[in-house]
Amino acid sequence: MENIIASAVSQVGDSGTENAPRRCPPGSFVIFGGGGDLTHRLLLPAIYNLACAGLLDDGFSVVAVDRADLTDAQLRQSMYVALENFVARRGAEAVALRADIWDWLAPRIRYVRGDFEIGQTYQDISTIVGDRNCIFYLAVAALFFGPIVDRLGEAGLVREGRNAFRRVIVEKPFGHDLPSAIALNTRLLDTLTEQQIYRIDHYLGKETVQNILALRFSNGFFEPLWNRQNIDHVQITAAETVGVEQRARFYEGTGAVRDMVPNHVMQLLAMTAMEAPISFDADAVRNEKTKVLDAIHTLSPDDVVRGQYAAGTVGGTEVPGYRQEPGVDPHSLTETYVAMKFQIDNWRWAGVPFYVRTGKRLAARKTEIAIHFKSAPYALFRDTPVDRLAPNIMVMHIQPTEGVTMQFSAKIPGPAVRLGGVRMKFDYAEWFSEGPSTGYETLIYDCMIGDATLFQRADNIEAGWRAVQPVLDWGQDSQTLALYTAGSEGPKAADALLARDHRHWLKIG
Ligand code: BG6
Repeated sequence: MENIIASAVSQVGDSGTENAPRRCPPGSFVIFGGGGDLTHRLLLPAIYNLACAGLLDDGFSVVAVDRADLTDAQLRQSMYVALENFVARRGAEAVALRADIWDWLAPRIRYVRGDFEIGQTYQDISTIVGDRNCIFYLAVAALFFGPIVDRLGEAGLVREGRNAFRRVIVEKPFGHDLPSAIALNTRLLDTLTEQQIYRIDHYLGKETVQNILALRFSNGFFEPLWNRQNIDHVQITAAETVGVEQRARFYEGTGAVRDMVPNHVMQLLAMTAMEAPISFDADAVRNEKTKVLDAIHTLSPDDVVRGQYAAGTVGGTEVPGYRQEPGVDPHSLTETYVAMKFQIDNWRWAGVPFYVRTGKRLAARKTEIAIHFKSAPYALFRDTPVDRLAPNIMVMHIQPTEGVTMQFSAKIPGPAVRLGGVRMKFDYAEWFSEGPSTGYETLIYDCMIGDATLFQRADNIEAGWRAVQPVLDWGQDSQTLALYTAGSEGPKAADALLARDHRHWLKIG
């Protein structure tokens, strides 16, 4: 789990290649749903970036499996267009699509037309991949995860040879509640070993999310403060400005809790709160994550605020309310926002609330983790004009700004003792020449080299669901749904959740 693109690039100019990431082993990258949006928008660009960084072996190939009637040539053409768009989107640093890379990649792309539930499809795949290394990527609707893995097993496609691995990458959503996640794990584990399953959470592909561990554990001065003695509370925010977009069918039965909390938000919480693993070994990291998620205290209704956006203005544009969106039930009770107060019952965190909130159509797009430290003792300032000491806050900015800020007090110049809040800022882009990243490069690369650190183990997934399961059990009908204006900071009830504890949210917009 390193920035393989950036380090591959920087190593070129460095003195040695000792630490350069190694090339992936040869093998086929088989994508179920290979004709679809995820493949075109993210997976193929990530593969292109890996090729540009010289990390793919000559024996690498892509096999796209889908139901549309396409030829190899037609698929390559649509992928070419997708890559051109991807390169164009890079803005200032845009360069044309590299012809040498495309010429290398295009003949390595094959198409298999077939139904995911029919044996013939798997025979066709088998003919192409032979006995080579294979990754099967399930970029399909969740209802196909189980059937595809069953068929892969029946066709003998996941049997590992002495020198050939067979791995399966499973996209989100992994289940829609705790029982279904357990059932899916059981079903996959009937055919595969845990070591063959790579459950993706795309948040773990984000550099800034990976940086949380680096920041905490590679610096001497954070960790001694990282506990209940010094931290008052933590705020985790994953705010979006987009609405439900074209996904009403999926979102109506899902809602903000299922869509964001057991997966992405829990990853942020686990990275922030976990104990130091004994190494970056996949199981060492995942053990610690599960431990901390398992220590989450059972939620009570008072700890949760559900909201839904009403019409409003986002970025100067008027937008409809959720219930007016195409495909949404005009009486829908689906939440597009949730705020929750989690308590972690362990020695490090007892008594330190972790407030999390996520929602669509909020004032700004912003994902961040804010660590609010306890205030210093006031005694020294009682005879000065300073009437209170502001708490120190450290904010880890995940996106769109990437970096860390520290807020603390400094003396305002002048004869009297007066304090002003100041901010010290580290900006990723200023310090590092970032590699061109979709977020999927590291994940694909890691799976190819067999490093599962950034993927979720069965127990991680289940621990995430377990933490939110009470909200799902209470059901929509029995819970209040607070409306909030699109483009706002979220429902007032979410402010009340913190006000009750004499705290307030940092502003989103
Ligand atoms: C997805 C959710 O998993 O994550 C979407 O299904 C959400 O609803 C998206 O918009 C957010 O991802 P990111 O990377 O834009 O924060």
